[in-house]
Amino acid sequence: MRSSRVSDIKLLELPKIFTPNGNITSINSNNEIPFNIKRIYYLYDIPGGESRGGHAHKDLQQLIVAARGSFDVILNDSVEQKKIHLSRPYIGLLLPPGLWREIDNFSSGSICLVLASEEYSESDYIREFDDYLKYKL
Ligand code: TYD
Repeated sequence: MRSSRVSDIKLLELPKIFTPNGNITSINSNNEIPFNIKRIYYLYDIPGGESRGGHAHKDLQQLIVAARGSFDVILNDSVEQKKIHLSRPYIGLLLPPGLWREIDNFSSGSICLVLASEEYSESDYIREFDDYLKYKL
């Protein structure tokens, strides 16, 4: 969505079920999150100092969770920039389409879990920041 702004992101507190043996968080399509989950992927074994992302999506909605460890998500809408630190497996960052994102400052052993509204499609990506700025005009 061309008109999305950084102010449209949401930090969701996901349900946490306590059990004596540990906790469970469950995320259901169109319930805790406002879309149908078509794909789940996760980033792991990220070498120290690496960054990921560096692109925007035209239609994809995502929920990003620090399933383990922590990292920063840096969002840009061509006007405003905001950094969100994720470090809890029960907090989800809900991203509308149309925002430029980078993820960095991964803690050692961290896992970035992503729930996505669409299957993988390279044509949904904007990979050059210059192209992104033109897209947002
Ligand atoms: P990319 O989304 O650019 O990674 P990141 O944003 O984490 O830096 O994807 C990296 C590569 O993996 C790219 O060649 C596309 C491929 N890929 C898939 O094949 N399926 C997927 O679901 C994802 C997310 C990526």
